[in-house]
Amino acid sequence: MAIELQWDIPVPEGMEGLEKLLRRVADACFEAEGVSGAGFCVRIVDDEQIQALNLDMRGIDSPTDVLSFPTVAYPEGKTARDCPRRVSREYDPAMDCANLGDCVINLGRARAQAEEYGHSLQRELSYLTAHSAFHLMGYDHMNEEEKTVMRNMEERALSAVGITREGGTPSHEQLFELACEAMQNSYSPYSHFKVGACILTEDGRTFKGCNFENASYGATICAERCAASCAIAAGARRFAAIAVVGSTAVAWPCGICRQVLREFSDLSLPVIVGQYGKGFTVKTLGELLPEALSPEDLGVTVE
Ligand code: THU
Repeated sequence: MAIELQWDIPVPEGMEGLEKLLRRVADACFEAEGVSGAGFCVRIVDDEQIQALNLDMRGIDSPTDVLSFPTVAYPEGKTARDCPRRVSREYDPAMDCANLGDCVINLGRARAQAEEYGHSLQRELSYLTAHSAFHLMGYDHMNEEEKTVMRNMEERALSAVGITREGGTPSHEQLFELACEAMQNSYSPYSHFKVGACILTEDGRTFKGCNFENASYGATICAERCAASCAIAAGARRFAAIAVVGSTAVAWPCGICRQVLREFSDLSLPVIVGQYGKGFTVKTLGELLPEALSPEDLGVTVE
């Protein structure tokens, strides 16, 4: 278990999937650093609680967004990957891994920052967790050089879980642009029809996909299902939008892809469809697939 999530305040609505998301973020941070068998605690607190901690531990009487308390003392200029023995000394039987320390996040501040940057709270919490994870692994940002190194590591880890640099929830234009980028990787030697797709998930991540064909034509995978596979494999379960682009015609999603999208979104899902170089139109999934059989019809709640 890479993280243990502890709420020191009541759990707000919509935060049920947070532990899973932050666990994935932490795993990506460890992977970027090349460390295994490690974890840390994430505590979610409020303004007052973080101010008290800040005063107590650092003598600073003011609230902040995140505090990190490492268990390992890293030698000057070294990080977790250089100190496997120091790391494994922190083995915590309850966590069944080395406990690298505490990451304490101020939910109120995270919410305000998410609003300021125009992205989801989940995304902001992911940033703060990744930032803290690298502090817990010996990184710091006391000078520009250190700061760049730390940022690069954060970036590498976050992009591995589908959280990209651009701030804010991507617009329809940006999703279409990402679909166009994905289209460049299309493997379509039979139809010569390149298709790209980009799915935005409810937790603010984006996943790209392209069609890839097969000598046995029926084994072909559409761009939409390629993107959906990446999203599902990264732990996402709710889609917020999809953009699809075709190289020589508008890439209307096929029937199977429409049905696949219905599994992970409701009929209000915006489907941004267009042709490369010719712009796009936006439909809802309900317009493309009315009266679809849904997981709810079979008593399944997707989460
Ligand atoms: N294709 C997609 O990628 N998405 C769709 O929804 C429509 C069809 C691809 C599959 C195949 O490689 C090519 O377009 C021609 O059908």
